[in-house]
Amino acid sequence: MEKPKVVLGVSGGIAAYKACELLRRLTESGHDVRVVPTEASLNFVGAATWSALSGNPVSTEVWESVHEVPHVRTGQAADLVVVAPATADMLAKAAHGLADDLLTNTLLTARCPVVFAPAMHTEMWEHPATQENVATLRRRGAVVVEPAVGRLTGADTGKGRLPDPGEIFEVCRRVLARGPGVPDLAGRHVVISAGGTREPLDPVRYLGNRSSGKQGYALARTAVARGARVTLVEANTGLPDPAGADVLRAGTAVQLREAVLKAAEDADVVVMAAAVADFRPAAYATGKIKKKDGQEPAPVALVRNPDILAEVAADRARPGQIVVGFAAETDDVLANGRAKLRRKGCDLLVVNEVGERKTFGSEENEAVVLGADGGETAVPYGPKEALADTVWDLVAARFG
Ligand code: CTP
Repeated sequence: MEKPKVVLGVSGGIAAYKACELLRRLTESGHDVRVVPTEASLNFVGAATWSALSGNPVSTEVWESVHEVPHVRTGQAADLVVVAPATADMLAKAAHGLADDLLTNTLLTARCPVVFAPAMHTEMWEHPATQENVATLRRRGAVVVEPAVGRLTGADTGKGRLPDPGEIFEVCRRVLARGPGVPDLAGRHVVISAGGTREPLDPVRYLGNRSSGKQGYALARTAVARGARVTLVEANTGLPDPAGADVLRAGTAVQLREAVLKAAEDADVVVMAAAVADFRPAAYATGKIKKKDGQEPAPVALVRNPDILAEVAADRARPGQIVVGFAAETDDVLANGRAKLRRKGCDLLVVNEVGERKTFGSEENEAVVLGADGGETAVPYGPKEALADTVWDLVAARFG
């Protein structure tokens, strides 16, 4: 079988050195990679490095080997183009169709999926010019992964770091696996909650649950690869941020509600995969509750938490917003699931049977996805990403 052809575009940012690791992962996993650096990027990593690591010739401009028409052929032949790092300048050029070197020409001639992994200072990323360029690229079907938050060049920290090369590689792998064509969540904003809330009793104790967050993270990763802008609201997962998603953190149900409602304001889809505590302690003790000799502990009074899913579904921030819930059940799984779907007012409900190997902490899951339209889709036991993809298939079908 022929190796998938990947063009790795490298634009001029300090994070160019991390693209060496991405290149290594791509070549070692059986991809034929052609590196197309911009002239500016050669200040950070030289052509010799790219050539040696890829085993292919490297050029930056269109005036070499002109008889082979490289400015057209390189893009035409590719199964995937990934630009990492993508600078603010590169995003602007790509959004406006400028073509003054081999990489920008390649972006115009490529008909395969394109992934941009931006890296720049926070101010440049947040500038309306950059944000509009990113929105334009996403609307056209490019996968633009959100930059990571952390240490930037110099002493600064903030949003703008190139995500971990291993994570970018995973995005590329998923995008390639989906094949050609515009990704079906392109231009959509999806909000996903993941993990389990913790309701504090005193500074050292909380009421919590066993949710690992893995299903929510699988939803986030697969949505990124399908072209969506992804906001992940996570509660107590301790998992590394998935590349490409904007990650917000919440501890309690009340905090999760606030973050989800805010993010949902301009969302096309809201997926409540988090296990939200139904109750919280009525009172929070500011000092540790101590045991007293000869006395039984005082009972813990609980109060109801808001039902975020029901609230989002009842009060949709946008017409046509699609709301997806999850339900973990132990008995009468389908009947309880149907009743819950109606009660919560969501469009889709992913119903898990809670069991030994399944659901909590596991890499695998098995579920039935119920639709408000009466639909019922069984997802056999398998990776959580497969279930995630089925959820997105059903969501995308509802966009029509
Ligand atoms: N959920 C929520 N807010 C809550 C509780 C749950 O948004 N306070 C959401 C979960 O994220 C999930 C769905 O509702 O998507 C189902 O939660 P579950 O606890 O199974 O449903 P309940 O209505 O609490 O039903 P049960 O009586 O089984 O506890």
